[in-house]
Amino acid sequence: MTTSKKTSPKVVSDYNGYDYKKIFWEDADRRYEDLADRLAIRKLLPEHMETFVDIAGGYGRLADEYLPRAASATLFDYSKTELAQAREIYGDRLQTKAGDIYSLPFKDNSFDALMMVRATHHFADMQKVSDQLYRILRPGGVAVIEVANKRTLPKMFRYWTKKSDINPFTLEPACLKDLNADGFYNYHPKYMEMIFRQSGFQIEKVLSVSNFRSAKLKRIFGTKNLVRLEKAAQGALAPIRFAPSIYYRLRKPTHAPAPKLPE
Ligand SMILES: C[S@@+](CC[C@H](N)C(=O)[O-])C[C@H]1O[C@@H](n2cnc3c(N)ncnc32)[C@H](O)[C@@H]1O
Repeated sequence: MTTSKKTSPKVVSDYNGYDYKKIFWEDADRRYEDLADRLAIRKLLPEHMETFVDIAGGYGRLADEYLPRAASATLFDYSKTELAQAREIYGDRLQTKAGDIYSLPFKDNSFDALMMVRATHHFADMQKVSDQLYRILRPGGVAVIEVANKRTLPKMFRYWTKKSDINPFTLEPACLKDLNADGFYNYHPKYMEMIFRQSGFQIEKVLSVSNFRSAKLKRIFGTKNLVRLEKAAQGALAPIRFAPSIYYRLRKPTHAPAPKLPE
């Protein structure tokens, strides 16, 4: 993965030439994380969608979750490497489109639903991203968005024990530049909820996801048992929003609110 500023004023985490599928998912034991994402998506995505887009969808890891529910599905990503891999796997069942999230190459009101998973950590300007997602959804459409949470229990412990000076309780985004040369952003759930509302979205449902993301817990309990616990925890722990991934189901209102009049 490299960093490029060629096509966007914002930093793009460039997955061109990087085998994300093999290196991140297959060579590491991330079955628990993969299944935790799938559990949440099954609960949040509409059962039937005419038009759907997976934003920053990579090689289409999660395509088998939405393909059976969508009459037409598009995978959007910056990386041509990822998109080529997706075409190899899914052929013409999945349309692909390359571009930069800050200027999505889709018309206003194009999709019934969209999803964006494991991507917010790459984006420095979430208001612009959220506004773009809102723009391409039709009125009444649904967005399922996963947010990389800055307010997790391990991050709190690191802060309290002075191993990290990033304060997980403040609303501003955490930029973990020293952990990843590309820049890596984590967001406070309250901050993201404010951003979503500013775009015009209504928040319909929240899930706490990947609650037991820990190599130690995987060793002790095994993936199967952790996934069973995860299933119960996603809804139950949502009110405290402590998990590394917070999932949102957002809706673009059918009728845009009336414009505010000057005081
Ligand atoms: C961690 S991967 C997640 C892929 C997929 N959503 C998943 O969960 O498996 C992040 C993806 O974001 C894409 N990406 C990063 N910056 C982007 C940008 N500015 N515009 C569009 N896609 C971008 C990368 O190419 C990569 O495929």
